[in-house]
Amino acid sequence: MQKDSGASRREFVAGALGASVVSMLSPGLPAWAAGAQRSLKSIAAEKGVLFGSSVGAGKPGTLSASFDDAGYLDILKRECAVIVPENELKSYVIAAQSGTYDFERGDRIAQFAKDNNLKMRGHTLLWNRVEYTPKWLLDHVGSLSAPAAEQFLRDYIQRVCTHYGTQIHSWDVVNETVAPKSGQLRDTPFTKVLGFDALRIAFEAARTYAPKAQLVYNDYMSWEAGNEQHRNGVLKLLEQFKAKQVPVDALGVQSHIGNVGGIQDTQHQPWRTFLDEVVAMGYKLLITEFDVNDKDLPGDPTRRDAQVAAIGKGYLDLMLSYKQLDQVLCWGMVDKFSWLQNFSKRADQTPQRPTPYDDNYRPKPLREAIAAAFESAPKRG
Ligand code: XIL
Repeated sequence: MQKDSGASRREFVAGALGASVVSMLSPGLPAWAAGAQRSLKSIAAEKGVLFGSSVGAGKPGTLSASFDDAGYLDILKRECAVIVPENELKSYVIAAQSGTYDFERGDRIAQFAKDNNLKMRGHTLLWNRVEYTPKWLLDHVGSLSAPAAEQFLRDYIQRVCTHYGTQIHSWDVVNETVAPKSGQLRDTPFTKVLGFDALRIAFEAARTYAPKAQLVYNDYMSWEAGNEQHRNGVLKLLEQFKAKQVPVDALGVQSHIGNVGGIQDTQHQPWRTFLDEVVAMGYKLLITEFDVNDKDLPGDPTRRDAQVAAIGKGYLDLMLSYKQLDQVLCWGMVDKFSWLQNFSKRADQTPQRPTPYDDNYRPKPLREAIAAAFESAPKRG
């Protein structure tokens, strides 16, 4: 019962938003035509925000192979000022085999960025989770003494950072190292052997070998009830970085959002309090992996798209009210390449619609919502 009335209220908000966004942008034109006039990157740039997306050079024909798709690349060229390789700079790609470094896939994306005058972010030097680290690497690090593990980590980061040099202006140095339930550091061979120092070493090495890059701690802590430990753990970690003078410039807020958790009501203040504390410590903010999971939204695509747009707009408005936030990256620009198609399937078996463009490269209401959020954002800098 309650759920239904919540849903219809949200739909009403979504409908109202859709209409107002269209008329605001260009009266008389449909949303997609109005939006097509100005790129997201230029609307964002006017407010001092860098806009972009991930792109994946994965196995052809898979979800993470958007880099093979001409329509996808056209959207990147038109809409984005920055790209980030979805998987290609992770250790499970670069160091899949012991003793070898494979930059082939990352290099293809880096070349595309150069050819098209796009900036590039790096993701990620230490994704501190066993599920996403090659087994040989876990076994190896686990067998080392602390000084040898430190050397291994430094060498790896040196190799990757120097390979891309100054092309990468911003690195997710460490990704997801706080365990959501406990707020403690995740238990991995790195933290077993080195403890907190694993993170300190990663950031220090990144500063040494990518001295011009912005260095980011990236995580998915959310506003939802039940995420208190995750948020507190991240705050504690950021405090420790400050206390120990670890060179961390910013917090990357992944932003895989959905219609859960009451960000506009009960959880609004806890989330703001979290962000306030982060910026009070002197950190900048980024949205690194924005998408809107629609698994709990209606099947009908029109209603669903309107709600996805409203949820996205509400979230971006809140986040952009922080002038410390100056980069917004989507985790994919076209629905059919979204990781959520696998990671979070809908009960009705229809594909997710979490990104700004549909499978025929037509902009959706979410694209207009992002544009509108940039339009109404305060100017930074
Ligand atoms: C995901 C990719 O999108 C998938 O292709 C891959 O199979 C697994 O990783 N948080 C992160 C990203 O930091 O690296 C994840 O990317 C999505 C969640």
